[in-house]
Amino acid sequence: MAAVEIDRAMRATRPPMSDGLTLLPGRLDRAEQEALVAALREVVRDAPFFTPVMPRTGKPFSVRMTNCGPLGWVADRAGYRYQPTHPETGRPWPPIPPSLLALWDAVTGYRAPPEACLVNFYGPEAKMGLHQDRDEADLAAPLLSVSLGDTARFRLSGVERSDPTRSFPLASGDVMALAGPLRLAFHGVDRILPGTSSLLERGGRLNLTLRRVNPP
Ligand code: SIN
Ligand code: FE2
Repeated sequence: MAAVEIDRAMRATRPPMSDGLTLLPGRLDRAEQEALVAALREVVRDAPFFTPVMPRTGKPFSVRMTNCGPLGWVADRAGYRYQPTHPETGRPWPPIPPSLLALWDAVTGYRAPPEACLVNFYGPEAKMGLHQDRDEADLAAPLLSVSLGDTARFRLSGVERSDPTRSFPLASGDVMALAGPLRLAFHGVDRILPGTSSLLERGGRLNLTLRRVNPP
């Protein structure tokens, strides 16, 4: 089946809802998506994408990454961590675009702003293995994810790696929050469906993950 058909078929299935999962398909309209891409272009001009590598093995991730916000998440041979500066330029990360701060307030209602916005770029072959987001000291705050560009098949499990998993599409403009019992759920990206969006000129997918790192 062609990627576009898989995309259509997946989107026709009802979004799975459960305690801790907020899925808001099409939360950002096309104009909002375009404005966000323009803001992210500024972010990337200041903080270029880099290729993270797995701790110890040094195996490169298939996604490219950058960050905005007071803290950014990085992965290198020394481990996973948050740091206030870009690993290659040494400069502070640029600020989180105001529209994303407003989205965080509107969707999470959390009492403090996010400190980190991880920006992942997926080319047609990129994916992300099942993992937990657990490098944050504040686990009370939700994770907020925004998808732009080509649709991804996202996989969500539970807090144990062996928990049952379900997969569903994250398409351009979709917003998802993981909170409470799913804050530490394993999750990943099985694949990208190339050619499913015209938002990014050269194709691919951007995913933004906003996180609070330190308790307020
Ligand atoms: C991540 O978990 O870091 C990315 C998830 C996504 O790309 O949707
Ligand atoms: Fe993650």
